[in-house]
Amino acid sequence: MKEQIESIIQESQKFAITTKEQMEDFRLKFLVKKGLVNQLFQEFKNLDGEEKKKWGKDLNIVKNKVEAIFKNAESKLIGSEDTSDGKSELPGYYSEMGSRHPISAVVEEMTQIFERLGFSVETGPEIEDDWHNFSALNFPANHPARDMQDTFFVGEDIALRTHTSSVQVRLMEEGNLPIRSIMPGRVYRNEAISARSNCFFHQVEGLYIDKEVSFSDLKQTLYNFVQEFFGANTKVRFRASYFPFTEPSAEMDIYLGTESESDYRLTKGTGWLEILGCGMVDPNVLENCKIDTKEYSGFAFGLGVDRIAMLKYGVKDLRTFFNSDKRFLDQFVNL
Ligand code: DAH
Repeated sequence: MKEQIESIIQESQKFAITTKEQMEDFRLKFLVKKGLVNQLFQEFKNLDGEEKKKWGKDLNIVKNKVEAIFKNAESKLIGSEDTSDGKSELPGYYSEMGSRHPISAVVEEMTQIFERLGFSVETGPEIEDDWHNFSALNFPANHPARDMQDTFFVGEDIALRTHTSSVQVRLMEEGNLPIRSIMPGRVYRNEAISARSNCFFHQVEGLYIDKEVSFSDLKQTLYNFVQEFFGANTKVRFRASYFPFTEPSAEMDIYLGTESESDYRLTKGTGWLEILGCGMVDPNVLENCKIDTKEYSGFAFGLGVDRIAMLKYGVKDLRTFFNSDKRFLDQFVNL
């Protein structure tokens, strides 16, 4: 027993393991079932009680030593080697979390306010025909009112919608009355691009058609929205205006003042920021959509999202919303 133990210890210590092949030879010689260490244990089994007591401990020491030599070699050889299949040894992929776009966040906040007032959310196509974008909305053919909105035409009588009011028409044509909906979406106009205007922007349209809807319902709905969105003490004003599809028509401004530089800029020095157009739906429009004007009336409004987003987040240049600069967008990761 003694000689065998010593010889295994010596041999295992002398064994040069500098390659993976040698490591495997070592394993085959000492550590497999028929290897030297196991052979020693087989012989140990045949010893009588006294002898077992004598050698048991040493045998375990041998086993541990041999295993330690192997483990040591293994960690050196495998740890230092490029075993990568290209994946397993690389650090995990770090994929950055995206964030919500500030325009989407503003649209969502507006949507939630109107949903609380009982408005549903509807959408419509961005490529629109003349009927839905203009004619049904009481823009007569060749009428200068069409020049109010510089249009990107895609084909004859087909254009990128210039406002979300086109979705009003689609909803009214469906004829499921009463209607109490908002219609958020992107709109397009052929305008010079600058810090304050872009060739596309975003609107939230609103439409309420029912029996006995009045202008005071419109005002109350919009006051409520402004108080919820901008705060309870926000000063507002209605200005008479003109839209072909509403009669009477108005625009609504909120008062920001001119103290801060950005308020001054956004309001062009007046302190007032126009946030929406609105009015009572013109009876011609209702008739174009086959709604009985003796029974039904309604109001509509169109909110501009982008300028409100500029105001909310203190963004000076509208273009920064849309040029996908990660440094800009990273500021909104918590939205
Ligand atoms: N469509 C108008 C625009 O883009 C905004 C608007 C005004 C929408 C009055 C309406 C409305 O629904 O009633 O300038």
